[in-house]
Amino acid sequence: MSLTKKKISSDEINFEKNILCIGAGYVGGPTMAMIAHKCPKYKMTVVDINPDRIHAWNSENLPIYEPGLDGIVTDARGRNLFFSTDIEKGIKESDIIFVSVNTPTKTFGEGAGMASDLQYWEKTARQILDCAESSKIIVEKSTLPVRTARAMERILTSNGNHIHFDVISNPEFLAEGTAIRDLENPDRVLVGSRETETGRRARGEIVEIYRNWVQEEKIITSNIWSSELSKLVANAFLAQRISSINSISALCEKTEADISEVSKAVGLDRRIGDKFLNSSIGFGGSCFKKDILNLVYLCRQYGLNEVANYWENVVKINEYQKQRFVLTILNAMFNTLAGKKICMLGFAFKADTGDTRESPAIFIAKKLLDEKAYVIITDPKALKNAGVDLEGQKGHLSLVEDPCEATAGCDAIAVMTEWDIYRNLDYEKIYDSMRKPAFIFDGRNILDHEKLYHIGFNVYPIGKSKLTHFTKNK
Ligand code: UDX
Ligand code: UDX
Repeated sequence: MSLTKKKISSDEINFEKNILCIGAGYVGGPTMAMIAHKCPKYKMTVVDINPDRIHAWNSENLPIYEPGLDGIVTDARGRNLFFSTDIEKGIKESDIIFVSVNTPTKTFGEGAGMASDLQYWEKTARQILDCAESSKIIVEKSTLPVRTARAMERILTSNGNHIHFDVISNPEFLAEGTAIRDLENPDRVLVGSRETETGRRARGEIVEIYRNWVQEEKIITSNIWSSELSKLVANAFLAQRISSINSISALCEKTEADISEVSKAVGLDRRIGDKFLNSSIGFGGSCFKKDILNLVYLCRQYGLNEVANYWENVVKINEYQKQRFVLTILNAMFNTLAGKKICMLGFAFKADTGDTRESPAIFIAKKLLDEKAYVIITDPKALKNAGVDLEGQKGHLSLVEDPCEATAGCDAIAVMTEWDIYRNLDYEKIYDSMRKPAFIFDGRNILDHEKLYHIGFNVYPIGKSKLTHFTKNK
């Protein structure tokens, strides 16, 4: 018996469903890979207009870093998971199409800076209409303003060719860094549809996909508008918790209260819960700000100004927190940063990802450069993106892979991302290599502040008393 496994060509297999995903990004790629991994009976094809991205998905170096992703992609790729740029063929051959193209904040015209830019999404809907030769279920995966499905339905029925489309909303709640875990064991899967006979049938087909590995009680169904809105609201609530705790961190710094203690005391109330109460330099990521601004814009459009103002403040507090952090650095370092070397430990918007979209570190790095500081950035996964984000910035900027090398000779360290490796660096050695007085600004409260203080650092956490050697402050 031969030990080599023969890969059966996909043409030889009769797959139960042909599923397409348009948009091979952070959401589309991992989500489809998980379905392919769990359901070998379905053929999953992921298409994208960007050939480089597709090439990367077909290579050893996937376009995104996500723990556990490599394994499931390698397992299913070529068996029932395919990445391609042939969007037209993909549309023709599929029964179900997930749409996962990006919906960034609009940068022009009406609603600029607030509303979602739906141009890619509408272009995709038209492309589906042009290429489809049979009826299909279209699944909104992208986060969209509530009632977008109606526009999609209108486009899809605009040429009267009697092909039937059902539009379903199935928002993605995965978080970066834990995407595979979230996909494998989600808190819930939400599937929304029109409450019509065909709408409910289509909803049932999508539910059936998830039933292959998600417990029945975690799959919830709703009307399509509730589903669309729930995604925006889930992100708004999560972001609101961070802004709430961050607003209190400012008060803690004035009153000698300690934000970690407050957060623990508050979070132990089961009605409040202990998750998402870590004070920080502010939230980043591609979703929170975009989705809240979108919610704000929608509320204004419906004349709900008070509601809009309420949610807009979540974003304002986040901006305030980033500014506050820069001012803390400036004030602590004798109101001048010109020519001083500051090492940023981390650049990703959170740990375990190379993603830097809306990372607070971008704002902070730019402000430090404006102050004419020498900025040295280190990050285990995000250095390439950091270089792109800061391209064209004036000033002294270097990107250094090794954290010890990056901190050597610096005046200050600023922790931007809660990477585990930063918790246990040899801070004694680092201290010895730095210019004195040496400062640490812990923007994530991940370090042992007492220990650092005893080593000799002047320590500035978030929402806690500073520990300095300048004055008696204890
Ligand atoms: C997703 C969702 O789609 C977005 O609405 C949500 O708020 C965040 O997550 P994400 O997967 O993170 O977006 O976006 P991105 O990584 O930018 O991927 C989108 C992909 O769609 C890109 O690879 C882009 O090339 C592709 N695309 C875009 C198309 O294939 N066709 C288009 O017309 C536009
Ligand atoms: C978020 C949502 O969690 C996810 O459900 C949705 O699908 C997409 O948006 P993501 O952006 O990947 O996911 O990251 P998340 O873990 O939510 O963190 C967002 C930001 O908040 C990060 O910058 C993180 O550092 C920050 N954060 C999070 C805090 O500052 N404090 C916390 O307690 C938690």
